[in-house]
Amino acid sequence: MANDVLVLGIETSCDDTGAGIVLNGKKVLSNVVASQIKIHEKYGGVVPELASRNHLENVYYVIDKALKEAGVTLDMISAVAVTYGPGLVGSLLVGIETAKAIAFAKKIPLIGVNHLEAHLFAAFLEHEVKFPFLTLIISGGHTELVVVKEFGNYEVTGETRDDACGEAFDKVAKLLELGYPGGPKVEEMAKTGKKSFKFPKAVMKDGSSDFSFSGLKTAVLTHFKANKNMAKEDLCASFQNTVIETLLDNTLKTAVERNITEIVLGGGVVANKTLRESFKVKCEKEGFNVYFPGFNLCTDNGAMIAYVGYQKFLRKQFSGLDLNADPGLAIT
Ligand code: KG4
Ligand code: ZN
Repeated sequence: MANDVLVLGIETSCDDTGAGIVLNGKKVLSNVVASQIKIHEKYGGVVPELASRNHLENVYYVIDKALKEAGVTLDMISAVAVTYGPGLVGSLLVGIETAKAIAFAKKIPLIGVNHLEAHLFAAFLEHEVKFPFLTLIISGGHTELVVVKEFGNYEVTGETRDDACGEAFDKVAKLLELGYPGGPKVEEMAKTGKKSFKFPKAVMKDGSSDFSFSGLKTAVLTHFKANKNMAKEDLCASFQNTVIETLLDNTLKTAVERNITEIVLGGGVVANKTLRESFKVKCEKEGFNVYFPGFNLCTDNGAMIAYVGYQKFLRKQFSGLDLNADPGLAIT
């Protein structure tokens, strides 16, 4: 229809090449992701140079597939949104330059999107959430608690002081030789394990809701070396349980302190089913509403970029063709 807004969202900040098309900031018409797991798994982590080269090979194919699946052409797109940070600079630049070329050729607005802001709002593609709300972003690069008063008005109330939550999963998987990416491998092992060992939870002396996961990772390693007979399944279940309890403690503490009842989760670690179930049970018991993005909206994808792109489109927050990558971009 005449007033419909179709946003193409492009995501290339790390190792997933994503393109998604969202209608009027609500309906996901397509959300195509090309994973590079096969390329990076033999190195046990993302190799930046290989990631950017593969984005370059995949990006046009992914966009083309997203257009076909949505049943639209590039001429029908109202605006192109793209992640400009945080992330790997070479990877970011592939998406940015592609988006610029489309915006220039089709004479449509270019909209730079903060990747973290996209994780923050990914659940909005499927749920109605009232402002203000508290978001917990847990991904491979970030662990942040953010109070969202309205779109564009954010206050970070907690963050990691060392490893990100997903990074801790990845490192534990590596030291237990489970493979890459670690999160899904640890979750799989934990399914048949017992939460028999209580690892200490990191609590900040200053009373803040910051996180720390590097000590936990070391505790898993020390315990593994000292108890070679302990099943890896039990170690994974115990580690995962400690992470979930820590995340729950800090999130609910902040929600109570801020008198907020709406809790939203976002980021790759939210694909963990045990975590989702634990949050659901505990939050409902304590009187909070909790919202999760669908599984394909948790890990990096183009639709969540298109959602934020739509919000910025409404506010005419467009970028120039001089848009550059900002690898260290934060939420402010
Ligand atoms: O959001 P994301 O796709 O990329 C970043 O922005 O970092 O998150 C990737 C992270 C990785 O650390 C991965 O191991 C973790 O999310 N992850 C999981 C699960 N699936 C992905 N962690 C725990 N359980 C999972 N099922
Ligand atoms: Zn991400």
